[in-house]
Amino acid sequence: MEISFIGAGNLAWHLAPALENAGHHINEIYSRQLQHARQLVSNLYDAHTHSELNFADSPSTLFILAVPDDALEDVCSRLVLPERATVVHTSGSKNLDSLTKWMEIYSDVPVNTGVFYALQTFTKGQSFMTFDGIPLCIESDDKPTEEALVLLGQDISNIVYLITSEERRTLHVAAVLACNFTNHLLALARDLTIRNGLEFDLLRPLITETFRKGLAANNPANVQTGPARRHDLTTVSDHLTLLANQPQLAEIYQVITSSILQYYKNGESL
Ligand SMILES: NC(=O)c1ccc[n+]([C@@H]2O[C@H](COP(=O)([O-])OP(=O)(O)OC[C@H]3O[C@@H](n4cnc5c(N)ncnc54)[C@H](OP(=O)(O)O)[C@@H]3O)[C@@H](O)[C@H]2O)c1
Repeated sequence: MEISFIGAGNLAWHLAPALENAGHHINEIYSRQLQHARQLVSNLYDAHTHSELNFADSPSTLFILAVPDDALEDVCSRLVLPERATVVHTSGSKNLDSLTKWMEIYSDVPVNTGVFYALQTFTKGQSFMTFDGIPLCIESDDKPTEEALVLLGQDISNIVYLITSEERRTLHVAAVLACNFTNHLLALARDLTIRNGLEFDLLRPLITETFRKGLAANNPANVQTGPARRHDLTTVSDHLTLLANQPQLAEIYQVITSSILQYYKNGESL
C-alpha cells in the first residue's frame, strides 16, 4: 500500500517502520516542526518530509492521521487529498462519525474513512516496536475500506479486531486506567523516594511482582494487598499525615484508598 503519515510523534515513530518492514511504501511524513518528520524519515527507506497539508499530488492512497485527538478537526480542515484517498485516524477515543463528518465538510474530493487504533503505549525515540501481539482495532463504514484495513493490520499484527467506536472508547478508558494512571503512580512513587533520599530501585522488585501477579491472576482484584485491602485504617491515617504537606498526592492516595475500600466492602469483586 502507498501510505503517508500526518504526524511524526510517538505513534508514527513505531507504526511507519512497522508498515514499511511489512512491505508497504511510506511516501511522506508531515509534521509541523519539520525536524520531527526528518527524524522519522531518516529511519525509513524512501520517505520524504512534507511541510504542508496539501497532498493533492501524493502517490499515496492511505493517509494515517497520527496527531493528538484535539488536533484532528483542525488537520482535517486543512488537509487536501488526491482522488480515491482513504483517511484513518489512530485515536482511542474519537469516533469514526466525527472523522467522516469532517471529511465530508472539508474535503473537495470524496474520501473513505476508517480507524486504525493500536492498543499499546508508544514512545518516540525508543527502539522500534514489533506490532505482532499488539491488538489492532479497525473500523470503517465502507466494506472494501474495512477489508483493506484488516489486511493491512494483519500484515503487522496477529491480533486484529473489528471494534466499534463505542467499544473502542471503553477500551481506551480501560487503557488509561491500566497504563497511563499506573505509570503516573510509578512516577509519583519515584518522586517520593528520591525527595526523601531513598533509592527508587528499592521498589523495583515490588513493581515487577505486582505486574507479574496481576497479569497471572484470573482477576487482579484477587491479588490486591495493602492497608486499604486489609482495612488497616490506622496505617491509612498515618500515611495521610505523612503526606499532609503534599495535598495533591494526599488526595490521590485518599481517592484510591476509598475506591479499594468500596470495592471490597461486601467481600466481592466482579
Ligand atoms: N502514544 C501512544 O501511546 C498512542 C497509542 C495508541 C494511539 N495513539 C494515538 O495516536 C495519535 C497520535 O498520538 P501521539 O502520542 O503519537 O502524539 P504526539 O507524540 O504528540 O505526536 C503528535 C504529532 O502531531 C503533530 N501535531 C500536533 N498538533 C498538531 C496540529 N494542531 N496540527 C498539525 N499537526 C499537529 C505533532 O507535530 P510536531 O512534531 O511538529 O510537534 C506531532 O508530529 C493520537 O490520536 C493518539 O490517541 C497514541
